[in-house]
Amino acid sequence: MSRIPTPPAPSKLAFVPFVSVADMMRLVNTLGAEQVITELAGYIEQDFRRWPDFDKTPRVASHSQDGVIELMPTADSDHYAFKYVNGHPGNGKSGHQTVTAFGVLSSVATGYPMLLSEMTVLTALRTAATSALVGRYLAPKGAEVMAMIGNGAQCEFQALGFRALTGINRIRLYDIDAKATEKAARNLRGQGFDVVSCKAAAEAVEGAQVITTCTADKQYATILTDNMVGSGVHINAIGGDCPGKTELHPDILTRAEIFVEYPEQTRIEGEIQQLAPDHPVTELWQVMRGEIPGRRDARQITLFDSVGFAIEDFSALRYIHDKIAGSDFFQPLDLLADPDDTRDLFGMLTRAG
Ligand SMILES: NC(=O)c1ccc[n+]([C@@H]2O[C@H](COP(=O)([O-])OP(=O)(O)OC[C@H]3O[C@@H](n4cnc5c(N)ncnc54)[C@H](O)[C@@H]3O)[C@@H](O)[C@H]2O)c1
Repeated sequence: MSRIPTPPAPSKLAFVPFVSVADMMRLVNTLGAEQVITELAGYIEQDFRRWPDFDKTPRVASHSQDGVIELMPTADSDHYAFKYVNGHPGNGKSGHQTVTAFGVLSSVATGYPMLLSEMTVLTALRTAATSALVGRYLAPKGAEVMAMIGNGAQCEFQALGFRALTGINRIRLYDIDAKATEKAARNLRGQGFDVVSCKAAAEAVEGAQVITTCTADKQYATILTDNMVGSGVHINAIGGDCPGKTELHPDILTRAEIFVEYPEQTRIEGEIQQLAPDHPVTELWQVMRGEIPGRRDARQITLFDSVGFAIEDFSALRYIHDKIAGSDFFQPLDLLADPDDTRDLFGMLTRAG
């Protein structure tokens, strides 16, 4: 076989900054996870406050027996972003993660990508940032204790987010798999949390003012029953995020005031898929703009029916793009073909041969 010569070095326009998992870990460890979550929450809040500026659509989901693969696009007049993310609750058995992701931020003016980034770690950070930000509007005043049911990959990030944004430092853990609870307890104690490991969900919620459910199962699960939720509690329900995949008994939903990201998506994927399609919900962007109150009184049960919306990923990518400017937390990736004569793509190919 004849030897194919190495093509000439690509031009400047060919390169797109690429943030690998190693780069993301260096960036987060340099700044500290709590600082990153706090800064991310600021970006998310800014973007929620300008909600009407965005093109929005429920994410495009491809379901299979084992899980789901989703594309999450959104854009404003300057930037376009999408995330590729999967959710496979049984993946742990084969050593794969339940959730992995990557995403792209592009310039609307040229359509050229400006950033390609890992988003598995970033999704955990942005989910925690969103939950904790929402917790600031909805958690009861002076909340000190959070129950954390489901102690998998997202768990520690959620705890760090709530500490950074609401000051909660006491965490009561429960998972059906005791090994997951052991792992989370070890990691959280290492971060200075006051941790109690529990043997049942009912034990975990005792004395908690915030209850986070973050389990993974492909069914209508009942992680919380009505009798476990006292007045004044804020529920941060993360794990119910697909058709046929929920965590709360419907009786809780009818007692709670329900707050959502994007109703068109949450009615398909969230806890409220168990309710009538016109059940009243409050949109969080309106709360963040001060148009509708968050928590109104100390006895109210509030529920963040979280499913994860594209604007949170847009904000996260925008944040990372700003953060890596002038740093070495990325590598230039030769991603875009850039012929000298823009119409001579074929000539570029043949000259390289
Ligand atoms: N809302 C969002 O924005 C968002 C973002 C990321 C992930 N998620 C969802 O959050 C969930 C957790 O994600 P992860 O990456 O931590 O998954 P993971 O698989 O790492 O952890 C899930 C944990 O839940 C536990 N669990 C399962 N059933 C349980 C039950 N009945 N009671 C107590 N514990 C139980 C499992 O043992 C496991 O430790 C998934 O369902 C995922 O789809 C939502």
